[in-house]
Amino acid sequence: MITVALSKGRLFDDFVSYLEKYELYKYSKVLKDESRALYTIVDDIRFIFAKGPDVPVYVERGVADIGIVGSDILEEEVFSYLNVSGLPFGKCHFAIAGPPDVEHFNTVASKYTNIARKYFNDQQQPVSLIHLNGSVELAPILGLADGIVDIVQTGNTLRDNGLIEYEKILDVQARLIANKQTFYTKEDSIYEFLSEIGVIE
Ligand code: PRP
Ligand code: MG
Repeated sequence: MITVALSKGRLFDDFVSYLEKYELYKYSKVLKDESRALYTIVDDIRFIFAKGPDVPVYVERGVADIGIVGSDILEEEVFSYLNVSGLPFGKCHFAIAGPPDVEHFNTVASKYTNIARKYFNDQQQPVSLIHLNGSVELAPILGLADGIVDIVQTGNTLRDNGLIEYEKILDVQARLIANKQTFYTKEDSIYEFLSEIGVIE
């Protein structure tokens, strides 16, 4: 049995679409089940449905053997894992955004304060960062911050909140990560699964 940690939310939907595109219905059919169960088993693969930032925690601790997670999460926090490969979905990017008239970003709100800090440090631009847990677009609307550092995918959230993108910071995509030990001790089962889903030849 191998355990595969999946991120709930948009990345999960992208993974299911990817499986369907390659006609891997054996997995997609089960994953699309509407149940509230947080894990499901297909043959000898156990899929667990976790919050994105928790996927590398399960993988690092070895309770999941592999994980599918956005590179945003892997860039924001340091975890110990094997970087197996990028995946052809979950593509988006980090950007600085704000109302259309910002001259200088003195205060920036973000769920990703480490990524934001690194960016402004690299620019040698002093900034005050405010950590929020989501819906960060509210911060410049309410006057809590001049702007935000956040993920942009379709651009709909920015547009619907009257914000514009000022600068792209970093590309984001889904990544496949593995536990440093079990990637070798469970090598055969992991390779079989990865080749089945087209991640390796
Ligand atoms: C993410 C991100 C942006 C939005 C980008 O938020 O933080 O707000 O999606 O996608 P778009 O460009 O396609 O609109 P999410 O809905 O995941 O919620 P959260 O920010 O509250 O965590
Ligand atoms: Mg958001």
